[in-house]
This record gives sequence, C-alpha cells and structure tokens, in this order.
Amino acid sequence: MTDRLARRRIIVIGSATGIGAATVRRLMSEGAHVCAADINVKRAEALAQEIGGNIFALHIDIADEASVTAAITEAVQRLGGLDGVHVNAADMRQLLHDSTAIDVDLAVFDRTIAVNLRGHLLCTRAVLPHLLAGGSGAIVYTSSDAADWGEPVRPCYAMAKSGLNALMRHVSAAYGKQGITANCIAPGFTVTPEMADHGITDLTMDHFLGLGHSPRVGEAEDQAAMVAHLLSSDGRWITGQVYHVNGGQML
Ligand SMILES: NC(=O)c1ccc[n+]([C@@H]2O[C@H](COP(=O)([O-])OP(=O)(O)OC[C@H]3O[C@@H](n4cnc5c(N)ncnc54)[C@H](O)[C@@H]3O)[C@@H](O)[C@H]2O)c1
Repeated sequence: MTDRLARRRIIVIGSATGIGAATVRRLMSEGAHVCAADINVKRAEALAQEIGGNIFALHIDIADEASVTAAITEAVQRLGGLDGVHVNAADMRQLLHDSTAIDVDLAVFDRTIAVNLRGHLLCTRAVLPHLLAGGSGAIVYTSSDAADWGEPVRPCYAMAKSGLNALMRHVSAAYGKQGITANCIAPGFTVTPEMADHGITDLTMDHFLGLGHSPRVGEAEDQAAMVAHLLSSDGRWITGQVYHVNGGQML
C-alpha cells in the first residue's frame, strides 16, 4: 500500500457499512486523516474504534440541511481543513419498494430524491467553501450503473443517480478552474459484507456473474480502490467523469 494520501483530510459521508466503510479502511491504509460520517453513528463509531489512529465518527443525516451544516462544520474544524470528500450515502431500503413509474408510491420517490440526490447537493454546498478556501480539493460521489441501464424496475433510484451524475458534472465545470475535481464512481453489482451476511440468492449471483466479463462479482474494496485513486494526487487531472467500476457488467 502507498502513502499517497498521507495527511490528506477526508470526509466519507455514508461510511458506516458497505462501500463507504471499505473506503474508510482504504483511505486510512494510505495515510489519510478521516471523518467517518453517517446517520448510523453507532456503527461509524465502532468502525473508527476498530481502525484507530487519525479517524473519528460523526452523526450526519444528509436529508436534513441543519444536520449537514453542523456535521461538516465540526468535521472540518476537527480535521483542521479539508482536502477531499466521498459522498456515498443512499437510502437503500427504498429499493425494496421502487417498482415502476405507474405503481411506485410517491413517498418512495420523495425519500429517494431527498437522500440520494438532494442530500448530495446539500453535502456539496457544505463542503465546497472549505475546499475552495484551501485552493484545491476532490469530491467523489457514488452513483450507480442503474443511472445508465434503462431498467424496467427501480425508476426512482435511477433518476436520483442520473441527477447525481449531472450534479457532479456541474461541480466539475463550475469550480474546476479553482482547483476542484469532481467525479462519480458508478458501481456495478458489488457484494458488501452486510449483503453477504444477509444472504444472496444463487439466482442473483448467477445473473450478475453472467452479465459481467470477470470471473467474479464486485467487492466493496474494488470501489474503495477507485475512490482512493480519485482522491489522491494520482487523480488530480481527472474531473467530470463517471467511472463504471463493474467488471464489464455494462460492456
Ligand atoms: N452495493 C452495490 O451493489 C451498489 C451498486 C451500485 C451503487 N451502489 C451505491 O453505493 C453506495 C453505498 O451502497 P452500499 O451497497 O455500500 O449500501 P449501504 O447501505 O451499506 O451504505 C449506505 C450508507 O449510507 C448511510 N445512509 C443512509 N441514509 C443516510 C442519510 N440520510 N444520511 C447519512 N447517511 C445515510 C447508511 O447508514 C450506510 O452506512 C450507495 O450510494 C449505493 O447507491 C451500491
């Protein structure tokens, strides 16, 4: 492992489980100082305690503007500045009810947009002044292959992720000349430890193995590796891009 993130001050928003937790571990292993922010602060605290070192956990609810402002203010103060942000949170519970355009409950649409899209705008507005004050900085958002698939299900999730790609391109264009890079990772099917604990059917595994051009499906560490790259100086001339980290699942 390199130390290319040595002392870089990074907030991971949506960090308690899954891809966010793997990203926290990866950033720490490359020397970053990390704030692990999540609505599930108990789990984020347990992660911070387990890893130890230059890490602390904070509560944030990205659907709530006051919570975002308070958490980012405290995080930047405790980190002593800000170099990078991974905005990764999504309300994955909504996916269970995200059916079709005709049938979907508008409450599912509203909650999906409130967290997965509006929440990312709130985070963007809160972190940008700090990054701009430092003269440079990187934002990585977690989008999804779902933004581009054109699937017969989960329209709200796809709409939110498409919007997120647009937000990222805007940030890249509006603030690039001031030293800010913005990119999205768009994971394909990625088995997180929590998904594995929950159990994944053979049918689902076979579907995604068949879809991809890789001997395996994705792991949270595959996504974390791309985030680390984009937040490091190796990624300093990369901006405005959506990276499909998916083992060729959309090839
Ligand atoms: N796992 C996959 O196959 C996959 C595929 C494509 C995209 N993604 C995206 O990757 C990201 C992480 O997904 P994951 O699979 O690791 O799921 P996950 O549920 O483990 O991670 C989501 C995290 O966001 C947090 N969160 C939820 N609502 C929040 C809120 N209002 N405020 C703050 N934090 C909140 C959760 O507590 C959790 O820690 C999501 O953006 C998801 O859309 C995942």
